[in-house]
Amino acid sequence: MSEWFKTWFDSEYYHLLYKDRDHTEAEDFIKKIYRLLAPLPKKTMLDLACGKGRHSIQLNKMGAFVEGCDYSENSIQYAKKFENDYLHFYTHDMRNKLPKSYDYIFNLFTSFGYFKTLDEHQQTLQHIYNGLTDKGIFIFDFMNTQYVLNHLVAKEIIQKESVQFRIKRELIDGFITKHISFEENGNIHQYKEEVRALHPNELIKMMKNCGFSVQEKFGNYQLAPFDLQSSKRFILILIK
Ligand SMILES: C[S@@+](CC[C@H](N)C(=O)[O-])C[C@H]1O[C@@H](n2cnc3c(N)ncnc32)[C@H](O)[C@@H]1O
Repeated sequence: MSEWFKTWFDSEYYHLLYKDRDHTEAEDFIKKIYRLLAPLPKKTMLDLACGKGRHSIQLNKMGAFVEGCDYSENSIQYAKKFENDYLHFYTHDMRNKLPKSYDYIFNLFTSFGYFKTLDEHQQTLQHIYNGLTDKGIFIFDFMNTQYVLNHLVAKEIIQKESVQFRIKRELIDGFITKHISFEENGNIHQYKEEVRALHPNELIKMMKNCGFSVQEKFGNYQLAPFDLQSSKRFILILIK
């Protein structure tokens, strides 16, 4: 399996397809989670796999010292426009050890599950655990795989500006695979997204393997309680 995320997340088409990704939702979610966490002043926060930094920017607005990192150089270049004394961005592959430690680490909006082996995922979580200060907090937001598989939309067409994206979704070898194809100027483009169908119970086991304790489980961005059958998200608050 090729490392599809190296090209797709950096491509202009990824940013076009998700152009309308909801900033209001990100803002509301961060406000809610920040109130719940009630961090003391000057606590440090990392938005791991931050993309263009929509959550990092909001965390910083709430008063935290924030860093965001992502594999995609294009996204980090974009996010850097928003830097200030207490908000910084850098490129980083989350499969590697973090360069420093933080009081809070966020991994939001299914920014996990992309790697070939389960070991790489476990190792990534261990780097997060090791990258937290004593009693540090990890906020993990993944899809509820049980819900997604029960409601998988097999085919969809999405029009964004002049591009018509054809999306096909299926479960292949334990990965929820999204095939994305479109035509532009007579050229056919094809990309894919593959996210490992990690079940909530499996994720909890992996978190506990690292040493994390589960503090809270939520099922959506309004922080409703998690329900395996009906929740769309699987949001965990974990403590080191
Ligand atoms: C679904 S996007 C979410 C981005 C951001 N958290 C948000 O909600 O806008 C997933 C992000 O994970 C990043 N990513 C993928 N593989 C990565 C890796 N190995 N290390 C760091 N970031 C990675 C991608 O570049 C992309 O920005």
